[in-house]
Amino acid sequence: MYRILHSQELAPNVHLFRISAAKVAAKAQAGQFVIVRVSEKGERIPLTIADWDEKEGSITIVFMTVGTTTHRLARLKAGDSITSFVGPLGLPSENKKFGTVICVSGGYAVAPIMPIARAMKKAGNRVISIVGARTKELLFWTDKVAAVSDQLIVTTDDGSYGRKGLVTEPLKELLEGAEKIDRVIAIGPSIMMKFCAKTTEPFGVKTVVSLNPIMVDGTGMCGCCRVPIGGVTKFACVDGPEFDGHQVDWALLMARQKTYLDEEKHSFEHWRHQHGAGCGS
Ligand code: FES
Repeated sequence: MYRILHSQELAPNVHLFRISAAKVAAKAQAGQFVIVRVSEKGERIPLTIADWDEKEGSITIVFMTVGTTTHRLARLKAGDSITSFVGPLGLPSENKKFGTVICVSGGYAVAPIMPIARAMKKAGNRVISIVGARTKELLFWTDKVAAVSDQLIVTTDDGSYGRKGLVTEPLKELLEGAEKIDRVIAIGPSIMMKFCAKTTEPFGVKTVVSLNPIMVDGTGMCGCCRVPIGGVTKFACVDGPEFDGHQVDWALLMARQKTYLDEEKHSFEHWRHQHGAGCGS
């Protein structure tokens, strides 16, 4: 069992857990993920590692409540335990000196992009971060990202904080500007990553995205997480989760992500019926 050392609601429906998992913390690197199971019969869900502390032997995960498992997870508090916590899984981010790197995050993906931006900065890159959210109250960790970036641009869809609009607007301006951009990393909802990749493609700037297809085992055996990359089938759990955004077949990826939507809805309705409407806490 893996004990929750600290829990916090970072924004409405977005939760942070710091979990005691010394063996995972000893090996964790930016870009990797863990697979979590809330109980013996629980579903396995992948969550990207948001941070780790080797000394404390802990891993930080940040997740949004969307379905049954994330709602069940969100009900746990510091002192409670999680049945299984497997990782670190997946290939780490490629961290080396590229030059100027733009790190773009959408929604709660600001959490997984923070250690990537930190590693990029440590490798000697000039790091420009663009953090986007729908509205001000959904923003968090902008201070952490600012601390590891040379420049931070915040956007909100409704203009309640920072620049009004989507992350792709400042991204395009930076690509059109005088400074040479050597690499873009985009993490967030698939649609946001797709449009970041579409924005960078005409400029020929390599764009890395972190994909989140359905996963089961997380070790390359079940085939659930297969994603078409440049016409070749790859497994996100062992070949990724990071891939060249210009090579992703976005339409197929997004169609596959919806495969079990009805079952997920049914499961959540059933769970909510059993646990009451205010099930987020
Ligand atoms: S999750 Fe099973 S092969 Fe990747």
